[in-house]
Amino acid sequence: MSGERKVRITETALRDAHQSLIATRMSTNDMLPILDKMDEAGYWALEMWGGATFDSAMRFLDEDPWERLRLIRARIKNAKLQMLLRGQNLVGYRHYADDVVREFVKRAVGNGIDIIRCFDALNDLRNVEIAADQVKKEGAHLQLCISYTISPVHTLEAFADMAKKMTDMGADSIAIKDMAGLINPVDCIKLVKAIKAKTSVPLELHSHYTTGLASMVYFAGIEAGADIIDTAISPFALGTSQPPTESMVAALSGSEWDTGIDIEKLLPICEHFKKVREKYKNLLPEIAGVNINILRYQIPGGMYSNMVNQLKEMNASDKLEDVLKEVPVVREAMGYPPLVTPSSQMVGTQATLNVLRGRWKIFPKEIRQYFLGYYGMPPAPVDPEVQKLAIGKEEPITCRPGEKIAPEMEQARKDAQPWMTEPEDALTWIMFPQVAKDFLPKKYAKVNKRDTGLQEQADPAAYPA
Ligand code: CO
Repeated sequence: MSGERKVRITETALRDAHQSLIATRMSTNDMLPILDKMDEAGYWALEMWGGATFDSAMRFLDEDPWERLRLIRARIKNAKLQMLLRGQNLVGYRHYADDVVREFVKRAVGNGIDIIRCFDALNDLRNVEIAADQVKKEGAHLQLCISYTISPVHTLEAFADMAKKMTDMGADSIAIKDMAGLINPVDCIKLVKAIKAKTSVPLELHSHYTTGLASMVYFAGIEAGADIIDTAISPFALGTSQPPTESMVAALSGSEWDTGIDIEKLLPICEHFKKVREKYKNLLPEIAGVNINILRYQIPGGMYSNMVNQLKEMNASDKLEDVLKEVPVVREAMGYPPLVTPSSQMVGTQATLNVLRGRWKIFPKEIRQYFLGYYGMPPAPVDPEVQKLAIGKEEPITCRPGEKIAPEMEQARKDAQPWMTEPEDALTWIMFPQVAKDFLPKKYAKVNKRDTGLQEQADPAAYPA
């Protein structure tokens, strides 16, 4: 037997799993009663913040995401707390100025985040540069992600070179982030080996069960040298979420990759999240099982269903095959962007327009911005003729897109001033101006009540032990 090589587990129940299965609606009160058990279970990390949770907490749950972070931090002593950050997009929907990125990272770490998992949809490392630099300055764990995709330019060599660059940027670990469940076990073995040949930092696997391949992918990847896997406790696993924690722990038990987690310790966690699942069952996707169309077309499930819906709305459902055939044409012209949000929607919409209105006759605003360079540098050069049709006489930018955005923090602090209860509120304001206008005054009122001892308490009776 070769040397000890324990595989570590990152539990995603508190972020990706509920984002994937119940539209990010899990509340802090659903989480608090089980945190002590989660902390004792032996997880390496809990992914519990960032991604869509920030927006959803305020928009749908009337909760302050910063407060959630602090409440969880106060109860977790052993496991690391991990968040998902979309590079220069942070947890919002556009690129923000560098001063906003730095301030956000500083406050996230200051409020208790240990690991910042950072990615860019185009894999343009310039879009994660500022965030990465600040994570290192704050002394937190920097994890940089490869957004996995399949295309002629996404070769093993290209991915491995990216991993090398990430290591040079100071990454403490690297993740293969397969948002759509596209990777298969054989390709995963090759990819892990290629990356491991170029860097020795720990490698984490992140996939989704959408195609039914993810637990095979994890096992294959672990055999090839991966160190950490992302799993979800079983009531929040499978379907569009991650492989079940219990099953992966059992699969590796007693081997050189033993997770060190006692499956008995997962039992109360499983029981708790069964109740949470029951509470939100009306939000669960109707169809479980495998999305065979992802296996057929190697495009994400969300992109496929968007195209089906767009065509239905345009009374052109019979054009689906044509649109699917147009996707590779559009993707090539755009320099093979990974098919993840937002580029997956852009490629899908452009392919639909090309089929229904004639190829390259209409370009939505986002596609013009893309060809102007505002999303970053695509993996391969764009088609210059198509670019010209899209942007006309305008000159594309070639610098890091963040350089084009003037500092924004000072104005945000001024704008949020009437409702500021803490510096974090200015970040909330700049990232989600519409939601914040509604939310921050409520927070302000609540905090002021709190000062008089009338605060609302988290409700421990919601889930009797
Ligand atoms: Co994910």
